[in-house]
Amino acid sequence: MASNTRSQTTTSTSETSTNPPAAKPVSVLFVCLGNICRSPMAEGTFRAVTNFDTDHPHPLISRIDSCGTGAYHAGDQPDPRTLSVLAAKAGITTYRHKARKIKVPSDFLEFDYVLAMDEDNMIDLRDMMKRARKKGVSDAREQEEVMQKVRLYGAFGGKAEDEEVQDPYYGGRNGFEIAYEQVERFGSGLLKHIEQEAAKGAE
Ligand code: 4NP
Repeated sequence: MASNTRSQTTTSTSETSTNPPAAKPVSVLFVCLGNICRSPMAEGTFRAVTNFDTDHPHPLISRIDSCGTGAYHAGDQPDPRTLSVLAAKAGITTYRHKARKIKVPSDFLEFDYVLAMDEDNMIDLRDMMKRARKKGVSDAREQEEVMQKVRLYGAFGGKAEDEEVQDPYYGGRNGFEIAYEQVERFGSGLLKHIEQEAAKGAE
């Protein structure tokens, strides 16, 4: 594999490398209800903090996406207030996204982190996975794995209590600004966590 290729000056089998194996990059899926307000805001800010759309993306991140537990807005662009706050607060003007509903069980299996914005999202996600198992499209082992992956994004906020990102859709712009402050902070916390996990694996 190219990533493990190192130049060698000897063919001795007793030679040991001082380079730890490269950590496997991880994928992150942000989830809210409609996928037009909070999870696109989380996705846009996490793409920015990881330089994901540049020619020097963070090496520990393989994929970033967002989706909703509902399909009400499938195909829609993010809410204009989400885009406006991303532009005003972070200078993010190039983020594009089309809302989609979560795919069960494939999204649960493909992503390493499935991060919900609020407790209702968490309950919906867990119920979806339980139903998938009942329908026979997933099994007990997968369900166990998925339950570990589904977490509140606000667990990475650095506070004693996990935080929820409240739904700002029916309120004013202020709610979007509060959501921005949270997801920007959670994004830094998540990236630090991913880096710490990778460092632990390399010890
Ligand atoms: P989101 O916000 O879950 O943060 O995308 C919402 C967007 C739309 C609706 C609810 C929440 N809605 O009921 O249409």
